[in-house]
Amino acid sequence: MKTDVLLGLQWGDEGKGKVVDVLTPKYDVVARFQGGPNAGHSLEFDDVEIVLHTVPSGIFHKNIVNVIGNGVVIDPGILKGELEKLKQLGVEASGQLMISKKAHLILPTHRIIDAASEAAKGKSKIGSTLKGIGPAYMDKTGRNGLRVGEILESDFKERYEQLKRKHIEFLRQFDYEYTIEEEGFFAGVEWMKRFRFVDSEFYINRALNENKHILAEGAQGTLLDVDFGTYPFVTSSNTICAGACTGLGLAPRRIGEVYGIFKAYCTRVGSGPFPTELTEDTGEKLRSIGHEYGSTTGRPRRTGWLDLVALKYSVMINGVTRLIMTKSDVLDTFDSIKLATAYEINGKETAEFPYELNEAVKPVYKEMKGWNTPISDIRDYDKLPEELRLYVKFIETETGVPVDIVSVGPNRDQTIIRALRDYHD
Ligand code: GDP
Ligand code: IMO
Ligand code: MG
Repeated sequence: MKTDVLLGLQWGDEGKGKVVDVLTPKYDVVARFQGGPNAGHSLEFDDVEIVLHTVPSGIFHKNIVNVIGNGVVIDPGILKGELEKLKQLGVEASGQLMISKKAHLILPTHRIIDAASEAAKGKSKIGSTLKGIGPAYMDKTGRNGLRVGEILESDFKERYEQLKRKHIEFLRQFDYEYTIEEEGFFAGVEWMKRFRFVDSEFYINRALNENKHILAEGAQGTLLDVDFGTYPFVTSSNTICAGACTGLGLAPRRIGEVYGIFKAYCTRVGSGPFPTELTEDTGEKLRSIGHEYGSTTGRPRRTGWLDLVALKYSVMINGVTRLIMTKSDVLDTFDSIKLATAYEINGKETAEFPYELNEAVKPVYKEMKGWNTPISDIRDYDKLPEELRLYVKFIETETGVPVDIVSVGPNRDQTIIRALRDYHD
C-alpha cells in the first residue's frame, strides 16, 4: 500500500483542511508531516466551524488515527488549547491521536526570537505568523532543538533551561523588549503526556504493510516551500511532496496519489512577490466574497487571479496526479475571469517560473467568460455552468492533470467529487 499526499499548490489556505476532512472516510490514518501552528485549517460541517493548527484534519471521523509526524514543530500550549476546544465539541482525541517522539518543540523563546527578528527586518519582514516556526526549525537543523521524546526524560527542565539560556544570549543582539511566558508551555507539556508518543516512522510503515490507507496532510503551500517557494518570503519547512517522506519516514516509492489543491484564484498572506495580485476593486471583491482573512492571524489576505505559470511549477515539483479546485463559488459574480498563462520578463515571454519574481515579471493573461450564476448548491459536475467547466478544462489542458474535485463552498457537503475514479488504485 502507498501513502497519498494532499498538499497546497499556492501560498497556503487553499482549503486543505476542508478537503482532508471530506476524504478522511476513505482512509485509516491521516498524518501531518511539516509546519506547525502557523497553519490554520478550517473545517465546516453540521453546526461545527473550527480551525485546526497542529491536529490533523481527520480528527472528526471516528476510528481514524491521526498522526503528528516528526517533521512537525509543536507548541504544547497551542496544542492543548486546540484539543480542549475539540473536547468541547465532543471529540476526545487522546485515543486517536499519536505524536512522533521526533517532532520538535516550539519554546516560548522561539516565539520571541521570531518577533524580534521580524521587528529588526522592518520593511523587509517576511510577515511571519510569529508562532516561532523559523527559530524552532533553525534549532532543529542547528542541532540544538528539543524533541517531544525528551518531555519524558527526568532532566527535561534542565534541557529546556539550557536552550532558553542560549536564546536569551541570542536575543541580546536585538533592541527588543520581551517577557518570557512559560506557564502555558509547561501546562501543555504536562498535558501532552496523556497522548501516545510514537516512533511514527514505524507506525506509518507498519500500517502500510497491513494494507491500511494513509493520507498525508500538507500545511502551507508549495510557493512557501523553503527551497522552491518565493525565498526568502517562505516558511521554514519543505511543504512539497518530498516533505512527506522526510516528515513521516516514508520511502519515496511509498508515495501514491499526490492531490494538489488550489483556489480558483490566488491569495497570499504576508509579504513577498505575487505577480497576479489585484490591488483595486476586483481584489477587494475577491477578498470580501471569499472571506479572505487569515485563519491563524486574522490578517487580510492579498488576492489575485489564478497563476498557471506558478501552478504548473507546483504540479511539476510535487508530481501532482490529481488536482482539486476550491472556492470556485467565489467567482460566481464575475463577468470575466483572467488566468496568467505566461510571464513577460523584460520583453520576453516565458512559461517557466523564474528564479526570482521581481518587479520585471508581468503576467500575460487569458480572459475567459464568467458563469454569473450561483453554484454552491450544485453537487453534480455535469450540472455546473458550461463556462466553469471550460475554465476547469483549460486548467486540465495546461497542467496535464485532471481536476478530480471541485469545491463549491466551505461546508463538507459542498464538494463535487467527479465520478468513476477509484481513490485507491
Ligand atoms: P487551509 O489552510 O488550506 O486548510 O485553508 P484555510 O482553512 O486557511 O482557508 C480556506 C478558507 O476557505 C476557509 O475559510 C474555508 O472554510 C473556506 N473554503 C474552503 N473551500 C471553500 C469553497 O469551496 N468555497 C468557499 N466559499 N469557501 C471555501
Ligand atoms: P496553511 O497551512 C498561509 C506564511 C506567513 C508568512 C510566511 C512565513 O493554513 O495554509 P511563518 O509563520 O511560517 O514564519 O510565516 O508564510 N504562512 C502561511 N500563509 N497559510 C499558511 O498555512 C501559512 N503558514 C505560514 O503568512 O508569509
Ligand atoms: Mg490556512
